[in-house]
Amino acid sequence: MMSGSEPGGAGGRPQQGAGREEFERLVSADADGIEEQRIEAALRPKKLDDFVGQERVREQLSLVLHSALRRGRTPDHVLLSGGPGLGKTTLAMIIAAELGQPLRISSGPAIERAGDLAAVLSTLAEGEVLFLDEIHGATTRAGMLPGPLRDRFGFVAHMDFYEPAELEVIVRRSAKLLDVEIADDAAAEVAGRSRGTPRIANRLLRRVRDYAEVRADGVITKESARAALALYEVDERGLDRLDRSVLESLMRKFGGGPVGLSTLAVSVGEEPETVEVVAEPFLVRQGLLARTPRGRVATAAAWAHLGLAQPPTAPLAGTLFEVDEDAGRPE
Ligand SMILES: Nc1ncnc2c1ncn2[C@@H]1O[C@H](COP(=O)(O)OP(=O)(O)OP(=O)(O)O)[C@@H](O)[C@H]1O
Ligand SMILES: [Mg+2]
Repeated sequence: MMSGSEPGGAGGRPQQGAGREEFERLVSADADGIEEQRIEAALRPKKLDDFVGQERVREQLSLVLHSALRRGRTPDHVLLSGGPGLGKTTLAMIIAAELGQPLRISSGPAIERAGDLAAVLSTLAEGEVLFLDEIHGATTRAGMLPGPLRDRFGFVAHMDFYEPAELEVIVRRSAKLLDVEIADDAAAEVAGRSRGTPRIANRLLRRVRDYAEVRADGVITKESARAALALYEVDERGLDRLDRSVLESLMRKFGGGPVGLSTLAVSVGEEPETVEVVAEPFLVRQGLLARTPRGRVATAAAWAHLGLAQPPTAPLAGTLFEVDEDAGRPE
């Protein structure tokens, strides 16, 4: 079984040299160190039935596993793809558990040299499940698997972003495991700001819990959840300070654009890579920002979200900010 994340997914990792080193985001979809991994392990559903959402993937996988069990055979190779924090590792562990087999974990980067994989395979016991994480690291083009490799997998599943209702279930489930009481409307509040990503939902829940324990009586109400998330500057749509400052600059300083990436980045005091890799993918996904050949543009939804009045559409040609310095940049 293998899994690969797509770069520039829900949160984006600041690339090397990009942005401030101490830069840490509550709304990043990437796991944040050993401590978070430990907590995540405790929150992982252990059975397919407890895995929330991804209905189709779950049902298909259930068939594959149960028919293999019934025939007493090993199931097909499984390929899981999707952005960070969407549940690939969780599913891998569930697969082994459902088959009643031990799980061995290795990763793409660890099997890069010829012979590495053979060494791993030769020590596998019969039936043992091998999980190769970050398999895109073993390919030449990041995030892309060559066809011949892809064709080896009898089961290929793509994990998508979660619906708010699904995240709500995850938040309520995690709260139970963390032994904290949460009101239904508070769970909805957290879910709505989690960018479609269980990992972010669980992280926001922990911050909201801290707040409720220290400032309220330990019960997470809608009010305490809202206050906590306001304190951490995660807004109703899951935008954080960086996201908002990009949008605000774009609107206040450049009339909503179009403006080139570099100019926009300078105006918010960030490296272009940080704006492009860390902030933009989610803004684009949310339909708040558009990348056009002439530069970045704030959409009507962005004006509405920040509560700013959109100026009457200016003629595009010959504007003050004649900047299509980024035209042709990869999106
Ligand atoms: N469907 C789900 N139901 C409940 N919890 C989930 C679900 N998917 C993910 N989670 C939780 O979200 C966290 C992150 O999930 P996981 O580690 O499986 O993501 P991943 O896709 O492997 O991420 P990465 O690409 O960074 O390796 C875990 O704590 C897990 O419990
Ligand atoms: Mg993983």
